Amino acid sequence: MVETVSRRCLGEPTEPANIVIFGAGGDLTKRKLIPSLIKMLRCGLLHPKSRIIGVLKGRTEETWLESLYQGIRTYAPEISMDKAQWQTFSGMCRIVSGDLKQDETYVDLDAALEMIDGHCHAMFYCAVPPNWYGMIATGLKKMGLSDETAGFRRVVIEKPFGMDLESAKKLNRELQTSLDESQIYRIDHYLGKESVQNLLVYRFSNSILEPLWNRNFIDHIQISAAESIGIEYRANYYEKSGALRDMIQSHLMQVMTLVAMEPPVEFTADAVRDEKIKVLRAVRPIETEDVKKQTVAAQYGAGHIGGDPVKSYVAEEGVSPESATETFVAARFYIDNWRWQGVPFVLWTGKRLPRRVSEIVIRFRKPPFNLFDVQGNPPLANALVFRVHPDEGIALRMNAKLPGLTTELKRSVMRAPYAEDEGDISDAYEVLLHDVLTGDATLFSRADEVEESWKIIDPILQAWEDKLSINRYQAGSWEIEGMDELLSGCELGWHKPTY
Ligand code: BG6
Repeated sequence: MVETVSRRCLGEPTEPANIVIFGAGGDLTKRKLIPSLIKMLRCGLLHPKSRIIGVLKGRTEETWLESLYQGIRTYAPEISMDKAQWQTFSGMCRIVSGDLKQDETYVDLDAALEMIDGHCHAMFYCAVPPNWYGMIATGLKKMGLSDETAGFRRVVIEKPFGMDLESAKKLNRELQTSLDESQIYRIDHYLGKESVQNLLVYRFSNSILEPLWNRNFIDHIQISAAESIGIEYRANYYEKSGALRDMIQSHLMQVMTLVAMEPPVEFTADAVRDEKIKVLRAVRPIETEDVKKQTVAAQYGAGHIGGDPVKSYVAEEGVSPESATETFVAARFYIDNWRWQGVPFVLWTGKRLPRRVSEIVIRFRKPPFNLFDVQGNPPLANALVFRVHPDEGIALRMNAKLPGLTTELKRSVMRAPYAEDEGDISDAYEVLLHDVLTGDATLFSRADEVEESWKIIDPILQAWEDKLSINRYQAGSWEIEGMDELLSGCELGWHKPTY
Protein backbone atom coordinates (compact mmCIF):
# COMPACT_ATOMS: atom_id res chain seq x y z
CA MET A 1 0.00 0.00 0.00
CA VAL A 2 1.54 3.28 -1.02
CA GLU A 3 0.67 6.55 0.65
CA THR A 4 2.47 9.85 0.97
CA VAL A 5 4.46 9.72 4.16
CA SER A 6 3.34 12.38 6.57
CA ARG A 7 5.37 13.35 9.60
CA ARG A 8 3.32 11.19 11.90
CA CYS A 9 4.73 8.16 10.10
CA LEU A 10 8.21 8.78 11.33
CA GLY A 11 7.94 6.78 14.55
CA GLU A 12 9.95 3.72 15.45
CA PRO A 13 8.82 0.74 13.31
CA THR A 14 7.37 -2.15 15.28
CA GLU A 15 8.62 -5.71 15.28
CA PRO A 16 6.27 -8.26 13.66
CA ALA A 17 3.78 -9.41 16.26
CA ASN A 18 0.56 -11.31 16.78
CA ILE A 19 -2.13 -8.75 17.50
CA VAL A 20 -4.89 -10.58 19.29
CA ILE A 21 -8.23 -8.84 19.76
CA PHE A 22 -10.61 -10.33 22.31
CA GLY A 23 -14.11 -9.12 21.49
CA ALA A 24 -13.18 -8.72 17.84
CA GLY A 25 -16.81 -8.57 16.77
CA GLY A 26 -17.53 -5.43 18.83
CA ASP A 27 -17.78 -1.76 18.13
CA LEU A 28 -14.34 -0.73 19.37
CA THR A 29 -12.66 -3.13 16.95
CA LYS A 30 -14.54 -1.73 13.97
CA ARG A 31 -14.48 1.92 14.97
CA LYS A 32 -10.97 2.31 16.29
CA LEU A 33 -8.67 -0.70 16.33
CA ILE A 34 -8.91 -1.88 12.72
CA PRO A 35 -8.79 1.63 11.16
CA SER A 36 -5.77 2.47 13.33
CA LEU A 37 -3.97 -0.74 12.38
CA ILE A 38 -4.61 -0.06 8.69
CA LYS A 39 -3.23 3.47 9.00
CA MET A 40 -0.21 2.18 10.91
CA LEU A 41 0.44 -0.42 8.25
CA ARG A 42 0.30 2.20 5.52
CA CYS A 43 2.78 4.34 7.37
CA GLY A 44 5.18 1.51 7.95
CA LEU A 45 4.49 1.67 11.69
CA LEU A 46 2.94 -1.79 11.74
CA HIS A 47 5.19 -4.53 10.46
CA PRO A 48 3.59 -6.15 7.38
CA LYS A 49 4.48 -9.61 8.70
CA SER A 50 2.27 -9.01 11.75
CA ARG A 51 -0.87 -11.08 12.24
CA ILE A 52 -4.23 -9.82 13.48
CA ILE A 53 -6.13 -12.52 15.29
CA GLY A 54 -9.75 -11.84 16.18
CA VAL A 55 -11.13 -13.96 18.99
CA LEU A 56 -14.89 -14.15 18.80
CA LYS A 57 -17.88 -16.44 18.83
CA GLY A 58 -20.48 -17.39 16.25
CA ARG A 59 -18.92 -15.88 13.13
CA THR A 60 -16.95 -17.19 10.20
CA GLU A 61 -13.75 -15.49 9.11
CA GLU A 62 -15.57 -14.30 6.01
CA THR A 63 -18.45 -12.59 7.84
CA TRP A 64 -16.05 -11.07 10.34
CA LEU A 65 -13.88 -9.59 7.58
CA GLU A 66 -16.97 -8.32 5.79
CA SER A 67 -18.10 -6.51 8.97
CA LEU A 68 -14.62 -4.98 9.36
CA TYR A 69 -14.75 -3.76 5.79
CA GLN A 70 -18.16 -2.18 6.32
CA GLY A 71 -16.88 -0.69 9.59
CA ILE A 72 -14.09 1.11 7.75
CA ARG A 73 -16.56 2.52 5.25
CA THR A 74 -18.75 3.83 8.06
CA TYR A 75 -16.30 4.93 10.73
CA ALA A 76 -13.12 5.71 8.81
CA PRO A 77 -14.21 6.87 5.36
CA GLU A 78 -10.93 8.80 5.05
CA ILE A 79 -9.22 5.45 4.45
CA SER A 80 -9.60 4.85 0.77
CA MET A 81 -8.84 1.28 -0.14
CA ASP A 82 -9.01 -0.54 -3.41
CA LYS A 83 -9.60 -4.27 -3.59
CA ALA A 84 -5.92 -5.17 -3.69
CA GLN A 85 -5.17 -3.04 -0.62
CA TRP A 86 -8.00 -4.63 1.31
CA GLN A 87 -6.77 -8.08 0.31
CA THR A 88 -3.30 -7.27 1.61
CA PHE A 89 -4.73 -6.21 4.96
CA SER A 90 -7.36 -8.93 5.27
CA GLY A 91 -4.66 -11.46 4.37
CA MET A 92 -3.02 -10.57 7.69
CA CYS A 93 -6.22 -11.35 9.64
CA ARG A 94 -7.34 -14.67 11.16
CA ILE A 95 -10.03 -15.69 13.58
CA VAL A 96 -10.04 -17.97 16.56
CA SER A 97 -13.57 -18.94 17.26
CA GLY A 98 -14.46 -19.73 20.83
CA ASP A 99 -15.78 -18.82 24.22
CA LEU A 100 -13.40 -16.91 26.51
CA LYS A 101 -14.68 -18.92 29.48
CA GLN A 102 -13.41 -22.16 27.93
CA ASP A 103 -9.82 -23.37 28.23
CA GLU A 104 -9.95 -24.74 24.66
CA THR A 105 -10.21 -21.22 23.28
CA TYR A 106 -6.83 -20.35 24.81
CA VAL A 107 -5.38 -23.63 23.53
CA ASP A 108 -6.61 -22.74 20.02
CA LEU A 109 -5.25 -19.24 20.42
CA ASP A 110 -1.86 -20.60 21.45
CA ALA A 111 -1.83 -22.71 18.30
CA ALA A 112 -2.75 -19.68 16.20
CA LEU A 113 0.12 -17.49 17.46
CA GLU A 114 2.85 -17.42 14.87
CA MET A 115 6.57 -17.39 15.27
CA ILE A 116 7.66 -14.53 13.00
CA ASP A 117 11.31 -13.71 12.35
CA GLY A 118 12.42 -15.82 15.28
CA HIS A 119 10.00 -14.39 17.87
CA CYS A 120 6.48 -15.01 18.94
CA HIS A 121 5.51 -11.54 20.21
CA ALA A 122 1.87 -11.01 21.14
CA MET A 123 -0.29 -8.10 22.16
CA PHE A 124 -3.65 -9.10 23.62
CA TYR A 125 -6.23 -6.33 23.32
CA CYS A 126 -9.24 -6.78 25.59
CA ALA A 127 -12.09 -5.11 23.70
CA VAL A 128 -14.57 -6.78 26.06
CA PRO A 129 -16.52 -5.72 29.16
CA PRO A 130 -14.22 -5.04 32.14
CA ASN A 131 -15.61 -7.90 34.22
CA TRP A 132 -13.91 -10.25 31.74
CA TYR A 133 -10.40 -8.85 32.21
CA GLY A 134 -9.57 -11.02 35.21
CA MET A 135 -10.86 -14.14 33.48
CA ILE A 136 -8.81 -13.44 30.34
CA ALA A 137 -5.64 -12.81 32.36
CA THR A 138 -6.21 -16.10 34.19
CA GLY A 139 -6.83 -17.94 30.91
CA LEU A 140 -3.65 -16.52 29.37
CA LYS A 141 -1.57 -17.46 32.39
CA LYS A 142 -3.05 -20.94 32.72
CA MET A 143 -2.26 -21.84 29.12
CA GLY A 144 1.21 -20.31 29.25
CA LEU A 145 0.28 -17.49 26.87
CA SER A 146 1.61 -14.78 29.16
CA ASP A 147 5.04 -16.38 29.31
CA GLU A 148 7.59 -14.10 27.65
CA THR A 149 10.21 -16.70 26.71
CA ALA A 150 9.45 -16.60 22.97
CA GLY A 151 8.65 -12.90 22.76
CA PHE A 152 6.88 -10.09 24.54
CA ARG A 153 3.35 -10.67 25.84
CA ARG A 154 1.41 -7.48 26.58
CA VAL A 155 -2.22 -7.12 27.63
CA VAL A 156 -4.16 -3.97 26.88
CA ILE A 157 -7.27 -3.05 28.83
CA GLU A 158 -9.71 -0.18 28.44
CA LYS A 159 -11.34 1.85 31.19
CA PRO A 160 -13.26 1.62 33.47
CA PHE A 161 -10.57 0.25 35.77
CA GLY A 162 -13.02 -0.44 38.57
CA MET A 163 -16.07 1.52 39.64
CA ASP A 164 -14.58 2.69 42.95
CA LEU A 165 -11.41 2.19 44.98
CA GLU A 166 -12.38 -1.24 46.25
CA SER A 167 -13.27 -2.69 42.84
CA ALA A 168 -10.18 -1.06 41.28
CA LYS A 169 -7.98 -2.75 43.88
CA LYS A 170 -9.72 -6.06 43.24
CA LEU A 171 -9.15 -5.74 39.49
CA ASN A 172 -5.48 -4.85 40.01
CA ARG A 173 -5.05 -7.87 42.27
CA GLU A 174 -6.72 -10.17 39.74
CA LEU A 175 -4.56 -8.92 36.90
CA GLN A 176 -1.36 -8.97 38.90
CA THR A 177 -1.95 -12.56 39.98
CA SER A 178 -1.55 -13.66 36.37
CA LEU A 179 0.56 -10.93 34.81
CA ASP A 180 3.53 -8.83 35.71
CA GLU A 181 2.58 -5.13 36.09
CA SER A 182 4.97 -4.36 33.20
CA GLN A 183 2.79 -6.51 30.91
CA ILE A 184 -0.39 -4.54 31.67
CA TYR A 185 -1.19 -1.54 29.47
CA ARG A 186 -4.15 0.45 30.82
CA ILE A 187 -5.17 2.58 27.92
CA ASP A 188 -6.52 6.11 28.33
CA HIS A 189 -7.12 7.43 24.85
CA TYR A 190 -6.91 11.04 26.06
CA LEU A 191 -3.22 10.57 26.69
CA GLY A 192 -2.78 9.43 23.11
CA LYS A 193 -4.14 12.71 21.78
CA GLU A 194 -1.36 14.65 20.13
CA SER A 195 -2.23 17.89 21.86
CA VAL A 196 -2.15 16.27 25.29
CA GLN A 197 1.34 14.94 24.62
CA ASN A 198 2.26 18.31 23.24
CA LEU A 199 1.45 19.78 26.63
CA LEU A 200 4.48 18.01 28.09
CA VAL A 201 6.67 19.22 25.26
CA TYR A 202 5.44 22.79 25.69
CA ARG A 203 6.01 22.65 29.40
CA PHE A 204 9.39 21.01 29.42
CA SER A 205 11.07 22.33 26.30
CA ASN A 206 10.27 26.04 26.58
CA SER A 207 11.98 28.04 29.25
CA ILE A 208 9.48 30.90 29.27
CA LEU A 209 6.68 28.84 30.78
CA GLU A 210 8.29 27.22 33.79
CA PRO A 211 8.86 30.44 35.80
CA LEU A 212 5.15 31.27 35.42
CA TRP A 213 3.82 27.76 36.01
CA ASN A 214 2.90 28.05 39.66
CA ARG A 215 0.71 29.68 42.30
CA ASN A 216 2.54 33.00 42.06
CA PHE A 217 1.27 33.68 38.55
CA ILE A 218 -1.60 31.31 37.87
CA ASP A 219 -5.02 32.14 39.28
CA HIS A 220 -6.74 28.88 38.41
CA ILE A 221 -6.90 26.13 35.78
CA GLN A 222 -9.91 24.68 33.95
CA ILE A 223 -9.68 21.31 32.21
CA SER A 224 -12.75 20.47 30.18
CA ALA A 225 -14.39 18.13 27.72
CA ALA A 226 -17.69 19.37 26.35
CA GLU A 227 -19.51 16.97 24.07
CA SER A 228 -22.53 17.48 21.87
CA ILE A 229 -23.26 13.76 21.60
CA GLY A 230 -25.43 11.96 24.12
CA ILE A 231 -24.86 8.49 25.53
CA GLU A 232 -25.01 6.75 22.13
CA TYR A 233 -26.89 3.56 23.08
CA ARG A 234 -24.61 2.93 26.05
CA ALA A 235 -27.31 3.32 28.73
CA ASN A 236 -26.35 0.08 30.37
CA TYR A 237 -22.83 1.30 31.07
CA TYR A 238 -23.61 4.98 31.54
CA GLU A 239 -26.41 4.51 34.04
CA LYS A 240 -23.91 2.84 36.39
CA SER A 241 -21.06 5.11 35.52
CA GLY A 242 -22.20 8.72 35.09
CA ALA A 243 -19.95 11.55 33.97
CA LEU A 244 -17.76 11.62 37.10
CA ARG A 245 -16.49 8.08 36.60
CA ASP A 246 -16.68 8.16 32.80
CA MET A 247 -14.61 11.27 32.19
CA ILE A 248 -13.21 12.87 35.36
CA GLN A 249 -11.71 9.87 37.17
CA SER A 250 -9.98 8.79 33.99
CA HIS A 251 -9.32 11.26 31.18
CA LEU A 252 -9.49 14.66 32.83
CA MET A 253 -7.66 13.65 35.97
CA GLN A 254 -4.89 12.15 33.85
CA VAL A 255 -4.63 15.44 31.97
CA MET A 256 -4.54 17.30 35.30
CA THR A 257 -1.52 15.26 36.38
CA LEU A 258 0.34 16.28 33.22
CA VAL A 259 -0.51 19.94 33.77
CA ALA A 260 0.53 19.89 37.41
CA MET A 261 3.44 17.47 37.61
CA GLU A 262 7.05 18.39 38.30
CA PRO A 263 9.59 17.88 35.50
CA PRO A 264 10.54 14.19 35.46
CA VAL A 265 14.23 13.30 35.65
CA GLU A 266 14.01 11.62 32.25
CA PHE A 267 11.32 10.98 29.67
CA THR A 268 10.72 7.34 30.52
CA ALA A 269 7.54 5.56 31.52
CA ASP A 270 8.31 5.22 35.19
CA ALA A 271 9.94 8.61 35.64
CA VAL A 272 6.84 10.31 34.16
CA ARG A 273 4.41 8.13 36.07
CA ASP A 274 6.29 8.68 39.34
CA GLU A 275 5.73 12.42 38.94
CA LYS A 276 2.07 11.98 37.94
CA ILE A 277 1.31 9.94 40.99
CA LYS A 278 2.82 12.57 43.28
CA VAL A 279 0.21 14.98 41.94
CA LEU A 280 -2.64 12.57 42.67
CA ARG A 281 -1.31 11.99 46.18
CA ALA A 282 -1.30 15.73 46.78
CA VAL A 283 -4.89 16.30 45.65
CA ARG A 284 -6.88 17.28 48.72
CA PRO A 285 -9.85 14.90 49.11
CA ILE A 286 -13.13 16.79 49.15
CA GLU A 287 -14.73 16.40 52.59
CA THR A 288 -18.35 15.19 52.61
CA GLU A 289 -19.62 18.54 53.87
CA ASP A 290 -17.80 20.34 51.02
CA VAL A 291 -19.02 18.13 48.18
CA LYS A 292 -22.02 20.36 47.56
CA LYS A 293 -19.80 23.44 47.41
CA GLN A 294 -17.01 21.90 45.34
CA THR A 295 -18.96 19.90 42.77
CA VAL A 296 -21.82 20.41 40.33
CA ALA A 297 -23.84 17.55 38.89
CA ALA A 298 -26.64 17.84 36.36
CA GLN A 299 -28.49 15.86 33.74
CA TYR A 300 -29.63 16.93 30.29
CA GLY A 301 -33.25 17.48 29.53
CA ALA A 302 -34.73 17.79 26.06
CA GLY A 303 -33.47 20.62 23.85
CA HIS A 304 -31.92 21.45 20.49
CA ILE A 305 -28.39 21.06 19.17
CA GLY A 306 -27.44 22.61 15.85
CA GLY A 307 -31.13 23.21 15.20
CA ASP A 308 -32.09 19.55 15.69
CA PRO A 309 -34.36 18.40 18.50
CA VAL A 310 -32.70 16.20 21.10
CA LYS A 311 -34.45 14.03 23.66
CA SER A 312 -33.79 14.14 27.37
CA TYR A 313 -31.42 11.70 29.08
CA VAL A 314 -34.27 9.91 30.83
CA ALA A 315 -35.97 9.38 27.47
CA GLU A 316 -32.91 7.58 26.05
CA GLU A 317 -33.34 3.88 25.42
CA GLY A 318 -32.46 1.84 28.48
CA VAL A 319 -32.43 4.75 30.93
CA SER A 320 -34.71 4.64 33.96
CA PRO A 321 -37.30 7.48 33.95
CA GLU A 322 -36.24 8.19 37.58
CA SER A 323 -32.54 8.17 36.81
CA ALA A 324 -30.43 10.63 38.80
CA THR A 325 -27.26 9.83 36.82
CA GLU A 326 -25.18 12.92 36.06
CA THR A 327 -24.41 13.71 32.42
CA PHE A 328 -22.62 16.93 33.41
CA VAL A 329 -20.16 17.18 36.25
CA ALA A 330 -17.69 19.72 37.51
CA ALA A 331 -15.35 19.49 40.47
CA ARG A 332 -13.04 22.03 42.07
CA PHE A 333 -9.88 20.39 43.36
CA TYR A 334 -6.83 21.71 45.20
CA ILE A 335 -3.34 20.28 45.01
CA ASP A 336 -1.59 20.60 48.34
CA ASN A 337 2.04 21.16 47.41
CA TRP A 338 4.45 24.08 47.10
CA ARG A 339 3.76 24.77 43.45
CA TRP A 340 -0.03 24.72 43.53
CA GLN A 341 -1.16 25.63 47.04
CA GLY A 342 -4.45 27.55 46.81
CA VAL A 343 -4.84 27.28 43.00
CA PRO A 344 -8.24 25.81 42.03
CA PHE A 345 -8.21 23.11 39.37
CA VAL A 346 -11.73 22.95 37.95
CA LEU A 347 -12.42 19.83 35.90
CA TRP A 348 -15.71 19.73 34.02
CA THR A 349 -17.39 17.68 31.35
CA GLY A 350 -20.85 17.18 29.95
CA LYS A 351 -22.87 15.53 27.25
CA ARG A 352 -25.37 17.25 24.97
CA LEU A 353 -23.65 20.61 25.33
CA PRO A 354 -23.73 22.99 22.36
CA ARG A 355 -20.33 21.95 20.95
CA ARG A 356 -17.61 19.33 21.16
CA VAL A 357 -14.61 21.12 22.61
CA SER A 358 -11.91 19.97 24.96
CA GLU A 359 -9.48 22.47 26.46
CA ILE A 360 -6.96 23.17 29.15
CA VAL A 361 -7.28 26.79 30.21
CA ILE A 362 -4.53 28.33 32.30
CA ARG A 363 -5.84 31.63 33.68
CA PHE A 364 -3.19 33.93 35.04
CA ARG A 365 -3.62 36.44 37.81
CA LYS A 366 -5.02 39.76 36.71
CA PRO A 367 -2.62 42.69 36.22
CA PRO A 368 -1.78 44.10 39.66
CA PHE A 369 -2.50 47.70 38.72
CA ASN A 370 -4.81 49.17 36.11
CA LEU A 371 -2.89 51.90 34.36
CA PHE A 372 -5.33 52.22 31.47
CA ASP A 373 -8.66 52.50 33.21
CA VAL A 374 -9.48 55.78 31.50
CA GLN A 375 -12.35 54.22 29.53
CA GLY A 376 -13.63 52.02 32.34
CA ASN A 377 -12.42 48.96 30.46
CA PRO A 378 -9.74 47.31 32.62
CA PRO A 379 -7.21 44.84 31.25
CA LEU A 380 -8.32 41.25 31.67
CA ALA A 381 -6.30 38.40 33.09
CA ASN A 382 -4.18 36.59 30.48
CA ALA A 383 -5.03 33.06 29.54
CA LEU A 384 -3.12 30.31 27.84
CA VAL A 385 -5.50 27.85 26.21
CA PHE A 386 -4.46 24.39 25.01
CA ARG A 387 -7.13 23.16 22.63
CA VAL A 388 -7.25 19.38 22.80
CA HIS A 389 -9.90 19.18 20.07
CA PRO A 390 -11.10 20.30 17.62
CA ASP A 391 -8.54 22.68 15.99
CA GLU A 392 -5.68 21.39 18.15
CA GLY A 393 -3.41 24.23 19.10
CA ILE A 394 -2.53 26.89 21.59
CA ALA A 395 -3.94 30.36 22.06
CA LEU A 396 -2.55 33.12 24.25
CA ARG A 397 -5.14 35.69 25.22
CA MET A 398 -3.61 39.10 25.87
CA ASN A 399 -4.69 42.72 26.12
CA ALA A 400 -3.79 45.06 23.28
CA LYS A 401 -4.51 48.62 22.26
CA LEU A 402 -7.49 49.20 20.04
CA PRO A 403 -6.13 51.16 17.04
CA GLY A 404 -7.13 54.81 17.29
CA LEU A 405 -6.46 57.95 19.24
CA THR A 406 -7.90 56.75 22.55
CA THR A 407 -6.33 54.20 24.87
CA GLU A 408 -9.01 51.58 24.66
CA LEU A 409 -8.14 47.97 25.17
CA LYS A 410 -9.13 44.99 23.14
CA ARG A 411 -8.59 41.29 23.63
CA SER A 412 -5.99 40.00 21.24
CA VAL A 413 -5.53 36.29 20.71
CA MET A 414 -2.28 34.83 19.45
CA ARG A 415 -3.00 31.43 17.98
CA ALA A 416 -0.56 28.66 17.18
CA PRO A 417 -2.29 25.76 15.45
CA TYR A 418 -0.64 22.53 16.51
CA ALA A 419 -0.13 20.98 13.09
CA GLU A 420 0.21 22.70 9.76
CA ASP A 421 -1.86 19.99 8.21
CA GLU A 422 -4.65 17.84 9.70
CA GLY A 423 -2.92 14.80 8.20
CA ASP A 424 -0.06 15.28 10.63
CA ILE A 425 -2.29 14.60 13.62
CA SER A 426 -2.40 10.94 14.53
CA ASP A 427 -5.43 9.31 16.00
CA ALA A 428 -4.95 8.52 19.70
CA TYR A 429 -5.34 4.79 19.07
CA GLU A 430 -2.59 4.76 16.46
CA VAL A 431 -0.24 6.41 18.94
CA LEU A 432 -1.17 4.07 21.78
CA LEU A 433 -1.16 0.83 19.78
CA HIS A 434 2.24 1.78 18.47
CA ASP A 435 3.43 2.44 22.01
CA VAL A 436 2.24 -0.97 23.19
CA LEU A 437 4.01 -2.68 20.30
CA THR A 438 7.24 -0.83 21.01
CA GLY A 439 6.91 -1.32 24.77
CA ASP A 440 6.58 2.34 25.74
CA ALA A 441 4.24 2.54 28.73
CA THR A 442 4.65 6.29 29.37
CA LEU A 443 1.10 7.12 28.32
CA PHE A 444 -0.54 4.22 30.17
CA SER A 445 -1.78 4.27 33.75
CA ARG A 446 -0.02 2.25 36.39
CA ALA A 447 -1.98 0.30 39.02
CA ASP A 448 -1.04 2.72 41.79
CA GLU A 449 -2.16 5.73 39.72
CA VAL A 450 -5.56 4.19 39.17
CA GLU A 451 -6.01 3.54 42.87
CA GLU A 452 -4.89 7.05 43.84
CA SER A 453 -7.41 8.60 41.47
CA TRP A 454 -10.24 6.55 42.97
CA LYS A 455 -9.21 7.78 46.43
CA ILE A 456 -10.08 11.27 45.19
CA ILE A 457 -13.34 10.26 43.51
CA ASP A 458 -14.72 7.90 46.18
CA PRO A 459 -15.65 10.60 48.75
CA ILE A 460 -17.68 12.41 46.08
CA LEU A 461 -19.49 9.23 45.10
CA GLN A 462 -20.17 8.47 48.75
CA ALA A 463 -21.58 11.93 49.37
CA TRP A 464 -23.86 11.50 46.34
CA GLU A 465 -24.94 8.01 47.33
CA ASP A 466 -28.48 8.92 48.29
CA LYS A 467 -28.96 11.28 45.39
CA LEU A 468 -32.61 10.88 44.37
CA SER A 469 -32.97 13.87 42.15
CA ILE A 470 -30.63 15.97 40.08
CA ASN A 471 -30.65 19.41 38.47
CA ARG A 472 -31.48 19.52 34.80
CA TYR A 473 -29.96 21.53 31.96
CA GLN A 474 -31.40 21.94 28.56
CA ALA A 475 -29.62 19.96 25.84
CA GLY A 476 -27.72 22.44 23.68
CA SER A 477 -27.42 25.09 26.38
CA TRP A 478 -24.56 26.40 28.52
CA GLU A 479 -26.92 27.34 31.34
CA ILE A 480 -25.85 25.00 34.12
CA GLU A 481 -26.99 25.80 37.61
CA GLY A 482 -24.18 26.09 40.12
CA MET A 483 -21.28 26.68 37.71
CA ASP A 484 -20.94 30.37 38.51
CA GLU A 485 -20.82 29.61 42.24
CA LEU A 486 -18.33 26.78 41.68
CA LEU A 487 -15.98 29.20 39.93
CA SER A 488 -16.55 32.06 42.31
CA GLY A 489 -13.29 33.84 43.12
CA CYS A 490 -11.72 32.46 39.92
CA GLU A 491 -10.59 35.23 37.57
CA LEU A 492 -13.21 35.69 34.79
CA GLY A 493 -15.26 32.71 36.01
CA TRP A 494 -16.40 29.75 33.93
CA HIS A 495 -14.68 29.54 30.56
CA LYS A 496 -17.42 28.38 28.21
CA PRO A 497 -15.82 27.40 24.90
CA THR A 498 -18.22 29.46 22.84
CA TYR A 499 -15.73 30.50 20.13
C1 BG6 B 1 -14.91 7.85 26.43
C2 BG6 B 1 -16.17 8.02 27.21
O1 BG6 B 1 -13.91 7.31 27.22
O2 BG6 B 1 -14.50 9.12 25.93
C3 BG6 B 1 -17.26 8.61 26.34
O3 BG6 B 1 -16.59 6.76 27.71
C4 BG6 B 1 -16.79 9.90 25.73
O4 BG6 B 1 -18.44 8.82 27.10
C5 BG6 B 1 -15.43 9.72 25.05
O5 BG6 B 1 -17.76 10.30 24.77
C6 BG6 B 1 -14.88 11.07 24.64
O6 BG6 B 1 -13.73 10.90 23.87
P1 BG6 B 1 -13.29 11.99 22.80
O7 BG6 B 1 -12.00 11.51 22.30
O8 BG6 B 1 -14.37 12.02 21.76
O9 BG6 B 1 -13.22 13.29 23.55
